[in-house]
Amino acid sequence: MPDASKKLRSAQWFGPADKNGFMYRSWMKNQGIPDHEFDGRPIVGICNTWSELTPCNAHFRKIAEHVKRGISEAGGFPVEFPVFSNGESNLRPTAMLTRNLASMDVEEAIRGNPIDAVVLLAGCDKTTPALLMGAASCDVPAIVVSGGPMLNGKLEGRDIGSGTAVWQLHESLKAGEIDLHQFLAAEGGMSRSAGTCNTMGTASTMACVAEALGVALPHNAAIPAVDARRYVLAQMSGARVVAMAREGLTLSKILTRAAFENAIRVIAAIGGSTNAVIHLKAIAGRIGVDLALEDWTRIGRGTPTLVDLMPSGRFLMEEFYYAGGLPAVLRRLGEAGLLPHPDAPTVNGRSLWDNVRDAPSYNDEVIRPLDKPLLGDGGICILRGNLAPRGAVLKPSAATPALLKHRGRAVVFEDFDDYKRRIGDESLEVDANSVLVMKNCGPRGYPGMAEVGNMGLPPKLLRQGIKDMVRISDARMSGTAYGTVVLHVAPEAAAGGPLAAVRDGDWIELDCEAGRLHLDIADEELAARLAARSQAGPAAPAARGGYARLYIDHVLQADEGCDFDFLVGCRGAEVPRHSH
Ligand code: FES
Ligand code: MG
Repeated sequence: MPDASKKLRSAQWFGPADKNGFMYRSWMKNQGIPDHEFDGRPIVGICNTWSELTPCNAHFRKIAEHVKRGISEAGGFPVEFPVFSNGESNLRPTAMLTRNLASMDVEEAIRGNPIDAVVLLAGCDKTTPALLMGAASCDVPAIVVSGGPMLNGKLEGRDIGSGTAVWQLHESLKAGEIDLHQFLAAEGGMSRSAGTCNTMGTASTMACVAEALGVALPHNAAIPAVDARRYVLAQMSGARVVAMAREGLTLSKILTRAAFENAIRVIAAIGGSTNAVIHLKAIAGRIGVDLALEDWTRIGRGTPTLVDLMPSGRFLMEEFYYAGGLPAVLRRLGEAGLLPHPDAPTVNGRSLWDNVRDAPSYNDEVIRPLDKPLLGDGGICILRGNLAPRGAVLKPSAATPALLKHRGRAVVFEDFDDYKRRIGDESLEVDANSVLVMKNCGPRGYPGMAEVGNMGLPPKLLRQGIKDMVRISDARMSGTAYGTVVLHVAPEAAAGGPLAAVRDGDWIELDCEAGRLHLDIADEELAARLAARSQAGPAAPAARGGYARLYIDHVLQADEGCDFDFLVGCRGAEVPRHSH
């Protein structure tokens, strides 16, 4: 590797013996930094999404301390800085609304500051893509350190999973199987340690994605947040990124098309979240890799799901780590010839395959062998048709196999409020074969494309023992959720997509095998309905101003990753002009 230290960005702040150098150094010295630390060593930013309002990332100050030990140990100069922290559990109307905001924060903080490389401390769902998007737009050397999952949730002596337990217990409550006291009693045990959701939800999926992309050290995804080895990994990451700064090992050398193809295959093998489809597209867009929805079909379909974790399967992230974690999965894929690009480089300077070729597996129940997969074809299913000309997605591993090919009549909700108002109505004309359709929950319509796509079933059907129905919307769903749920319909209803034209009683056909989502009305009828709708005026909501206005005006559709139109692309990390 070439020695890039001569060209370190930070030298343009702290190097010169002049008025500007004086100012940059002097103010930093108020933190107790001695002269000799301005000797040209790499300055490593620690981009911290710590916040007590993001409970999943609330332990990040401790992680940052261990990252700093690694940076200092390797001769770097650590500088920790906060960025917008979007926590999934508290932020309304949805943390997705601010993913792009956080990415802008990260990008501008890196480019405008004396930073040569960056450690991205990410955990809760949106924080991982936001940090990778921002850093990718700068193309600096970067390494992801994830916060790690919570310990297994516990309820009455058994394990329960983050999020997944909420959906299950709430259905049981509505079906009259448990009472409110039993429902609320599960709160404390479900989230009993620091860390992110312990299911294979979006946070765990994106942590696995970071590892599969090669931008995190092996085992980054699964070590529990409170396991001492998480802090060892943090220190090792800090040490490694200093070398990356010296080598000039920037993100664009890791985040190649090959890396994204590996990640798509891995997401199928772990039964990962549908949110990853959107986030991967957005990250790829920032580094100049053009992913298409069809890449998910081409690379993902046919891949067996090996990881038996909730919501698709039985176990939780703790067991996943003890069973060998992602390296064990990568090894199994690689040995079966299912790793598309084993030679893809990673942040530690070795190839993905070199990192995992000897990785042990300790539990074939948790990480299944190829001949005993959880699901033979776990790839995320991409659907198209007159109802979703620009695509929609469905996660087969979380669905009911018998419903993957289905024809039923639409029961239409105009938006989430309409759904909430009427779903409990005993006179609602709905049966188990109906298709629940919800509009106006997409990027512009909600706004922010909330995780409301896994609409709870009508209580009267739950009491009949119905557990699943086909549901279709332009929303997303939590990675911890399950069901035969068609999501991300594009274009969304609020952008004039055909979803807006669906009426009660229309026949809808879903065929996952064929990748088809069809509204069974004549083309002329569909065109006439859409024309009537567009004459009625714009469907997207009017924001009063502020960030929501910017969002609605510039957000791209789900198939484009929901980035802002003006944020797509890599703008590099050229040092801006002086501030004085
Ligand atoms: Fe933060 Fe699930 S709510 S990871
Ligand atoms: Mg989530």
